[in-house]
Amino acid sequence: MALLLLLFFLTVPVVSADDDDAFIGVNIGTAVSDMPSPTQVVALLKAQNIRHVRLYDADRAMLRALANTGIRVTVSVPNEQLLGIGQSNATAANWVARNVIAHVPATNITAIAVGSEILTTLPNAAPVLVSALKFIHSALVASNLDGQIKVSTPQSSSIILDSFPPSQAFFNRSWDPVMVPLLKFLQSTGSYFMLNVYPYYDYMQSNGVIPLDYALFRPLPPNKEAVDANTLLHYTNVFDAIVDAAYFSMSYLNFTKIPIFVTESGWPSKGDSSEPDATLDNANTYNSNLIRHVLNNTGTPKHPRIVVSTYIYELYNEDLRPGPVSEKNWGLFDASGMPVYTLHLTGAGTLLANDTTNQTFCVAKEGADPKMLQAALDWACGPGKVDCSFLLQGQPCYEPDNVVAHSTYAFNAYFQKMAKSPGTCDFKGAATITTSDPSHDSCIFPGSAGRNGTFPNTTSLAPSSNSSTSGCHSIYFYGAGSVTTSVIIGVLLMSVVCL
Ligand SMILES: *[C@@H]1O[C@H](CO)[C@@H](O)[C@H](O)[C@H]1NC(C)=O
Ligand SMILES: *[C@@H]1O[C@H](CO)[C@@H](O)[C@H](O)[C@H]1NC(C)=O
Ligand SMILES: *[C@@H]1O[C@H](CO)[C@@H](O)[C@H](O)[C@H]1NC(C)=O
Ligand SMILES: *[C@@H]1O[C@H](CO)[C@@H](O)[C@H](O)[C@H]1NC(C)=O
Ligand SMILES: *[C@@H]1O[C@H](CO)[C@@H](O)[C@H](O)[C@H]1NC(C)=O
Ligand SMILES: *[C@@H]1O[C@H](CO)[C@@H](O)[C@H](O)[C@H]1NC(C)=O
Ligand SMILES: *[C@@H]1O[C@H](CO)[C@@H](O)[C@H](O)[C@H]1NC(C)=O
Ligand SMILES: *[C@@H]1O[C@H](CO)[C@@H](O)[C@H](O)[C@H]1NC(C)=O
Ligand SMILES: *[C@@H]1O[C@H](CO)[C@@H](O)[C@H](O)[C@H]1NC(C)=O
Ligand SMILES: *[C@@H]1O[C@H](CO)[C@@H](O)[C@H](O)[C@H]1NC(C)=O
Repeated sequence: MALLLLLFFLTVPVVSADDDDAFIGVNIGTAVSDMPSPTQVVALLKAQNIRHVRLYDADRAMLRALANTGIRVTVSVPNEQLLGIGQSNATAANWVARNVIAHVPATNITAIAVGSEILTTLPNAAPVLVSALKFIHSALVASNLDGQIKVSTPQSSSIILDSFPPSQAFFNRSWDPVMVPLLKFLQSTGSYFMLNVYPYYDYMQSNGVIPLDYALFRPLPPNKEAVDANTLLHYTNVFDAIVDAAYFSMSYLNFTKIPIFVTESGWPSKGDSSEPDATLDNANTYNSNLIRHVLNNTGTPKHPRIVVSTYIYELYNEDLRPGPVSEKNWGLFDASGMPVYTLHLTGAGTLLANDTTNQTFCVAKEGADPKMLQAALDWACGPGKVDCSFLLQGQPCYEPDNVVAHSTYAFNAYFQKMAKSPGTCDFKGAATITTSDPSHDSCIFPGSAGRNGTFPNTTSLAPSSNSSTSGCHSIYFYGAGSVTTSVIIGVLLMSVVCL
């Protein structure tokens, strides 16, 4: 009975501009010295079942690689282009034509983030911020794309003052001349407020006032739970408190119908000596709990069950970012696609699922010289002592009969034989590590958990069942995009059943 009621709840749209369930997306920063190619990025997204991404620009190659994948994309107007766009509707129309219209509908662009934290990082451009949004929006209207593509601008949560208790929070009043027209715009266009939420920084700057557990969504003893004395709402984590502070700040200006999307949130996995809480464990705990919290459609104490979709910061560790060590270590993956840590997501579905994140394979690098591949193949099957019998005519891995496919098989067999130890997937630079299982048809690669692309669909709805572990991924990966919603509901039910 309880289960039926719950099913009812979950399938009835919540009161929100967006009828969908909450989703988890991922930000893709590119300050990476050996940045994977767009096709490699997309392969990782697919393998990890990541269905929503935000780009910090509108890179053409990346948008092309995302075409026909079903992945929803938020593109961004970089800060350095904001002044031009905010001062000229022609420049804005041009930007939209080149970076959006040229790619839809093949690439499913669902939002445009105009600038990033402009009020706090580029205050000189603030006077033209709302014009920029309006110009971009007009260009979408002219192409009849305004229904499917929302326009907004991510804000730092530091523009919210007195953020605890949330009911007393308000936006820094010096920004009222921008915030009021901005909120009017968001409300009238059915858009959402984009907010960056970093409990890590709030925790760091609180000088011990904020307990680490509270920042990490860990259970607190009831006497330590934060209670808003005005509303008597209980806050069990910093994330919810910040999101509610933003809702209260908006309602203080009389805007009560604008949903919130969290455009960035995360935790660094490594820091220098002044950043002792930037650790693998804390990053794993924060992101794992965040994902479960968001996908549970829990909402916040002020707005229970109003979804707060969230983009994790970020996909890759960005080694080229300046600043303290932590700045380079917010990623879920390193540039080779290896997970930095294994998220604790049991019961949270197939997104970034634990069961195959540890599967890595060694494959021929895209664009590698065929002569080098052939030489490396000969070495692997000879001195390297790899069992290459599967590559012989009539054997499962003979087809496709080309040097890329054959060297991929041999490189991987060697890599697995050497227990994936560092340096064993190189082959003079002709090889690279991937998390996507290259097995195909009856050609099962060493290191594969047995996936051969033919698992029955049913395993996909049973994330915590013991049946062939890695099946879930491949099913979603190759299945239709439209199953996602029902899958999330199924998964939620599953997690409830497991409680
Ligand atoms: C694009 O994304 C939107 C929002 O999630 C969705 O409603 C729509 O069906 C998607 N379109 C395609 C072609 O996948
Ligand atoms: C830009 O604004 C001018 C004056 O308001 C208007 O005449 C023109 O049509 C606009 N152009 C575009 C591309 O929207
Ligand atoms: C409010 O914003 C103004 C303008 O950026 C800034 O000078 C001021 O320090 C901010 N106030 C607080 C309390 O942060
Ligand atoms: C919000 O609405 C109330 C009641 O209509 C009004 O008194 C108040 O001035 C409004 N506040 C703002 C910031 O517009
Ligand atoms: C999930 O949502 C249910 C119902 O809203 C709530 O009771 C439960 O505590 C939530 N679980 C988590 C992990 O947030
Ligand atoms: C990941 O999966 C393995 C094997 O299924 C399991 O033993 C382990 O506890 C899981 N790890 C996490 C962090 O959930
Ligand atoms: C993943 O692989 C590493 C290195 O081989 C191993 O130490 C770790 O236990 C594995 N994790 C899981 C969840 O299997
Ligand atoms: C794929 O795996 C399934 C289950 O292990 C098996 O029944 C099927 O025969 C395999 N298909 C091929 C083409 O090997
Ligand atoms: C997979 O799902 C499709 C559509 O729901 C169904 O027709 C097909 O029989 C299923 N295949 C298996 C192996 O269960
Ligand atoms: C699932 O795994 C657990 C622990 O490994 C085992 O006790 C149980 O029998 C398994 N269930 C099935 C259906 O295989």
